[in-house]
Amino acid sequence: MRNRILLSLAVLAIAIVGMAFQTDSKPWAVPDKNAKMANPIKSSPESMSKGKTLYIKNCQDCHGKKGLGDGTKVPDLKSTPPDFTKAAFQSQSDGAVFYKLSEGRNDMPRGKKDLPDDEDRWNLVNYLRSFKK
Ligand code: HEC
Repeated sequence: MRNRILLSLAVLAIAIVGMAFQTDSKPWAVPDKNAKMANPIKSSPESMSKGKTLYIKNCQDCHGKKGLGDGTKVPDLKSTPPDFTKAAFQSQSDGAVFYKLSEGRNDMPRGKKDLPDDEDRWNLVNYLRSFKK
């Protein structure tokens, strides 16, 4: 009897931990009009270099140097940064990526607040494309 109670408690604990780690696997819906927004900044060496500087300063600690989602801060986070090299990420439109990094969610900060200049955030979108394999 006692063992059964312990077992039930263990199962419950695992379920709760599992739920806690699931928050980030929910699909992140992007409104249609945002997803269709065109990138006003053409990808160029200049835009890439601006994006890279911003990335190293503001994003790398979580997203990792190569965008793999393996930054040094990850162990302290409750949600997991995605792998930017994967098709699941790269197949999104520039508008969708811009929307997500502007709005933020869970541990992902609200870019609109930290980097209020739209141009900075579009340069970041261009830079994130460099992680494509
Ligand atoms: C404190 C850690 C942290 C920092 C700093 C951070 N991110 Fe994130 N980012 C995350 C996490 C965690 C997620 C996943 C959030 C979720 O799905 O709920 C995420 C998600 C994203 C996504 C959405 C990916 C997708 O398709 O679902 C983009 C784009 C992104 N980050 C870009 C950036 C950029 C650009 C910066 C720098 C300006 C940045 N992030 C800074 C933690 C961080």
